[in-house]
Amino acid sequence: MRGTTSPNPPVGCAIVGPGGELIASAGTHPAGGPHAEAAALAVAGERARGATAVVTLEPCNHTGRTGPCAEALARAGVAEVVYLAADPNPVAAGGAEYLRGRGVAVRHLAAPVAALEPWLAAVRLGRPAVTWKYAATADGFTAAADGTSQWITGPVARERVHRDRARRDAIIVGTGTAIADNPSLTARRPDGSPYPTQPRRVVIGSRPVPPGNLAELGYEQYPDPQTALRELWDTGARDVLVEGGAELARSFLEADLVDFVQAYTAPAFLGAGRGVLAGAVAGTIADARRFAPARVELVGEDVLFEMRRKA
Ligand SMILES: NC(=O)c1ccc[n+]([C@@H]2O[C@H](COP(=O)([O-])OP(=O)(O)OC[C@H]3O[C@@H](n4cnc5c(N)ncnc54)[C@H](OP(=O)(O)O)[C@@H]3O)[C@@H](O)[C@H]2O)c1
Repeated sequence: MRGTTSPNPPVGCAIVGPGGELIASAGTHPAGGPHAEAAALAVAGERARGATAVVTLEPCNHTGRTGPCAEALARAGVAEVVYLAADPNPVAAGGAEYLRGRGVAVRHLAAPVAALEPWLAAVRLGRPAVTWKYAATADGFTAAADGTSQWITGPVARERVHRDRARRDAIIVGTGTAIADNPSLTARRPDGSPYPTQPRRVVIGSRPVPPGNLAELGYEQYPDPQTALRELWDTGARDVLVEGGAELARSFLEADLVDFVQAYTAPAFLGAGRGVLAGAVAGTIADARRFAPARVELVGEDVLFEMRRKA
């Protein structure tokens, strides 16, 4: 399940019988546990013989804490393996070649897998993939002139943000937000109960956070974005969410550290207040930080516009 597998990728695997019937399906277990293929094969047992395994990522070919998935698939007698994303990790790649060498038919159906995108980007970049999320009015304000900002978006959008937090390895805010808002930075259901997996809580900046703030579950503090990402990568995080505020978001954009954007836009106007970014990241339109549009969704009364780094 996404949010529990890092530093491993959140992979899905289905074992399908000759008539197209689903025999077993599974996702990667938390790090140290079985990968998706091993978990699905364990459920399928003898029925895997002659079946097709459909996997979202090329089966790995290396022995880490668990054995190589390519070997497990070949040993189980799977006749065909269809995989969607190629493994960019040089240590684990080569599963497709291994399987072909064992007489297994292998097909690469290059298709985007949304759940894998941050992990794939992280492996490519050698640091956690950064998603910057913000909520603003239609005219781009995240707080009113009097400083009030709760709530810009509606309950459906807020619920979605909490679900999304549960799938991330860490939530990052600046000291400005940690001091002013005392945010919980937890992933909670609408009834207030916490999701079973909680992201790490990270604060960036030098100012001390008042002892009462963020105290409930603890937090990590780093002096700047680069140090935070390095420490997070070294300790297994691959998929992190930057939730503001405006100054921290500007720092991430200026340092070219934003890979994905989630822009929640409310059908509301303020005309003045605090902008999404604290100051310019470009002085002229030709220098605007541009992203590739990925998806637009109506979330309750609000719009979620998802973007990703341009190729
Ligand atoms: N609507 C939304 O989506 C949303 C989301 C989050 C927050 N907010 C609002 O935003 C307000 C806070 O925003 P803010 O802009 O004042 O504060 P902020 O961005 O949360 O924090 C700013 C602080 O982050 C640290 N920082 C930023 N860039 C850095 C860099 N490159 N290197 C080192 N440290 C860096 C600095 O900390 P030090 O000064 O300690 O060194 C800086 O003072 C709150 O009132 C909150 O309500 C809105």
